[in-house]
Amino acid sequence: MCGIVGYIGKRDVAPLLLEGLQRLEYRGYDSAGIALHAGGKTGGLKSAKAKGRVRELESRLPKRFNGTTGIAHTRWATHGAPNDVNAHPHLDADEKVAVVHNGIIDNAADLRTRLTAEGFVFVSDTDTEVLAHLIARSEAGTLEEKVREAVGHIEGTYGIAVLHADFPDRIVVARNGSPVVLGIGEKEMFVSSDVAALVSHTRQVVTLDDGEMATLRADDYRTYTTEGSSTSAQPTTVEWEAESYDMGGHDTYMHKEIHEQADAVDRALRGRIDDRFSTVHLGGLNLDARDARAVRRVKILGCGTSYHAGQIGAQMIEELARIPADAEPASEFRYRNPVVDPDTLYIAVSQSGETYDVLAAVQELKRKGARVLGLVNVVGSAIARETDGGIYVHAGPEVCVVSTKCFTNMVVSFGLLALHLGRTRDLSVADGKRIIEGLRKLPGQIEEILANEAQIEELAKEYAEAKSMMFIGRVRGYPVAREASLKLKEVSYIHAEAYPASELKHGPLALIEPAMPTVAIVPDDELLEKNRAALEEIKARSGRILAVAHQVQEKADHTIVVPKNEDELDAILMGIPLQLFAYYTAKAMGRDIDKPRNLAKSVTVE
Ligand code: F6R
Repeated sequence: MCGIVGYIGKRDVAPLLLEGLQRLEYRGYDSAGIALHAGGKTGGLKSAKAKGRVRELESRLPKRFNGTTGIAHTRWATHGAPNDVNAHPHLDADEKVAVVHNGIIDNAADLRTRLTAEGFVFVSDTDTEVLAHLIARSEAGTLEEKVREAVGHIEGTYGIAVLHADFPDRIVVARNGSPVVLGIGEKEMFVSSDVAALVSHTRQVVTLDDGEMATLRADDYRTYTTEGSSTSAQPTTVEWEAESYDMGGHDTYMHKEIHEQADAVDRALRGRIDDRFSTVHLGGLNLDARDARAVRRVKILGCGTSYHAGQIGAQMIEELARIPADAEPASEFRYRNPVVDPDTLYIAVSQSGETYDVLAAVQELKRKGARVLGLVNVVGSAIARETDGGIYVHAGPEVCVVSTKCFTNMVVSFGLLALHLGRTRDLSVADGKRIIEGLRKLPGQIEEILANEAQIEELAKEYAEAKSMMFIGRVRGYPVAREASLKLKEVSYIHAEAYPASELKHGPLALIEPAMPTVAIVPDDELLEKNRAALEEIKARSGRILAVAHQVQEKADHTIVVPKNEDELDAILMGIPLQLFAYYTAKAMGRDIDKPRNLAKSVTVE
């Protein structure tokens, strides 16, 4: 949520920063801005900001807007409306200090009152502006000390980058709860909140820890704590290629990422299957067989789509490992003073590895002595670092705000974990083998589903006229229905509800009429007849039905047929056509598919 990018070197900085902002735009697209050291005789800082997208900022940059050191930001509004004034960077009254900030300053109101009483004049409604004034107010001799002093007053979270007119040879950055990554180039240095903005320039990165700061100069960097002692953060190499962030001939990232799923699943399986013992190896789990056998419960925590992946994961773990398991939104869990049980294995699931509610739940659990694993996509992210071990889902970078391939890879990764736990307990060799065969079939079956794109496009055009849709599923199909309903509403803005099919007659059936279509998940499993009964109930009320099923459903107006896998793994595949359905519905309605209104990728605030 929100993106920071900065550069110091010899190149013209504005085009570089604009390119970085484009790469980060998925993290927030309410406004954008740049500040740079103007250099030359007059020196000083120059800045430009604009409400809206990066292209708006680009069109508004002044003619002479040159320099070789600068910082930039793309914003998802928290404090203050999305407008020019509230856009970052924020400067002090003398325009000596420029700050870009991700995160939330909890005591901003108090600081604002104190600074106003001292005569500082605020121009924006943002929490960030207090930082610009605090840094300007500091009488410390170096920029590092000024920033250190300023962040000492702050309660809350921040990832910041700071320019100061009197220190044109450096950018100072600091991190507490919001990512800051340094990119190391040849006689040039970059900084960003996300490697997405770095990989086209360098893959050598240093990720700061909370409480860490850094000074970037063109030919070196130094890291140290907010208390001032040096640290020795070492560079690592980013795995993801720059091309993975490109659209690759697709019209949107959503379309591209839906189509990457067969490869992504293949990557999640690669090197992990152990045919000899009909199990899988999950290197980073840090859970030996004895630990695995001692687990009495599994609790999965995540938000949004990742929570839905966790619901499917919990069912897989119960089915294959016979360990009681459930999933809960991390955002709820952390506020209900949960009973933390030493025999429960907690699993935090997150694409970004940054979602604040998930991170806060992990930290609360760790404080209470729980064992927490991560099921995460972004390597080295905060949640990956905070957990005791885990599984990387290897979906590759996901740029569309709406999650698709990562959801699928999360569910596959839960399948691997369920198999692993099952095989340390009572799952037979034969069942282990059966599940492995099912997992191996997935990439080919995903290709089969995607080959049916034309039918799904036609159906989406037809259903795009609905004002509201119902999604139903039973047991394994229910989280699939929930995820499909979320996908549709966030990308098309059509109202959608998801219900267990079994619950229809307890209330929601009242909504069914011809104008309210139902999307039904109907796997060929032991509940097929029960699901068919629900379709009968809907048909009897003249409801239109679109079924996602393993065979054509007589009662449905339309069926999208998907290939059958093992019962326990069917949920992995059944949501995929509905990702395409959401995509084509949104397309038919002319929506901004990659950047739905009011949303942003990586929710790093509460
Ligand atoms: C929906 C979506 C969100 C995220 C949620 C958690 O398409 O992407 O619901 O799943 O914000 O994000 P992560 O997985 O990064 O923790």
